Amino acid sequence: MAGFKGRDVISILDFTRGELEELFEEADEILNKGVKGRPLEGKVLALAFFEPSTRTRMSFETAMKRLGGETIGFTSEEAISVAKGESFKDTIIMLDSYSDAIVVRHKYDGAAKLAADIAENPVINAGDGKQHHPTQAMLDIYTIIKLKGGVDGLTIGVLGDLKYGRAASSFILALTHYKPKKIYLISPQQLRARREILEEARKRNLPYKEEENLEEALPELDILYVTRIQKERIPDPEEYEKIKGSYRITLEQIQKKANKNLKILHPLPKTDEIDPKIDETPHAAYYKQAKLGIPLRMALLKKILEEK
Ligand code: NCD
Repeated sequence: MAGFKGRDVISILDFTRGELEELFEEADEILNKGVKGRPLEGKVLALAFFEPSTRTRMSFETAMKRLGGETIGFTSEEAISVAKGESFKDTIIMLDSYSDAIVVRHKYDGAAKLAADIAENPVINAGDGKQHHPTQAMLDIYTIIKLKGGVDGLTIGVLGDLKYGRAASSFILALTHYKPKKIYLISPQQLRARREILEEARKRNLPYKEEENLEEALPELDILYVTRIQKERIPDPEEYEKIKGSYRITLEQIQKKANKNLKILHPLPKTDEIDPKIDETPHAAYYKQAKLGIPLRMALLKKILEEK
C-alpha cells in the first residue's frame, strides 16, 4: 500500500478498497473520540476554488481548522489575478509555495491532474469539470456504511444527470470497489452515464442496469443517490430546456413504492429534483451525509499531511 502521506487525490480509482477502509476507520476515530491536540498545527491548506462551492470548500476549511491548521484561498476567478490574465500554472506555482497542500476545484476536466503535475505538494481534487470528485465519493461511501453497515449486497439507484455530474460519475466508480447486489443507473436518455464510466464499470464487474424511469427500480432500492441537472455544464441551452424538470421524486411516490428502509442521498445542492416534504422523513439522509464531510475530510487531511 502506498500510504496516504504526501499523496495527490485525483480520482477515486487511485485508491484501493483497503485504503478507503483505512480512511473510514480514521474518520470513525475522529467522530467517536475527537482529535488529540492540534496535529496539523503550523500547516497551511490552500483552497483554490475557481468554481462555486458551499459544502466542499467550507468542510475542507472547517476540517483543517479543527485539526489546528490554517487555510488560505479564494472562491472565484474574479477574486484573484486570473482576472488580470494570470495563467492557471502560475496560480498553482504560487499556491504551492505558500501552502502544504492545495484543494482545487475547476470547471475544466483534468484541471486537478494538471495542478498535481505542476505542484510539488499534494493536490486534492474538489471537482474538475464533469470528471471526478473523489472526496465526495469517499464521503458518499462512508455515509452508506454508516447508514447500512456496508455496501456489499445492497441495491442502489443513481438518479439524475449521470452525464455531466462529476459527483455521480465518481460515485459510480467508487461502487466498483465493492460488491453491491445491483446498481440502477436512472436518467433521461440525454443524461446517460458517459461511455468511459460505463466501460470502467463493466470492466470492474459492477452489476449495473440502465433505466429511464425510477418507478421500475424504486421498490428494490436500499439507497437512492440523487443528483441535480448540471445546467452550467450543458453546452446547449435548448438541450437544457428539454430535459429540465424531467425527473422529480415526490413524497407520494416514496410512500407508495419505496422500501421503508430506503435512504436517499444527494451530494447537494439540490434544486427541484426532491420534493422538500421528503426532507422531514426518515428517508432523507443528505443532511447527515453533508455533516459527515467534516470527519471524513479531517481524516483525509490528517493522513496526507500529519508528520509522524
Ligand atoms: C457537487 C459538485 O460540485 O460536483 N457538489 C458538491 O460538491 N457537493 C454536486 C453539484 O454541484 O451538483
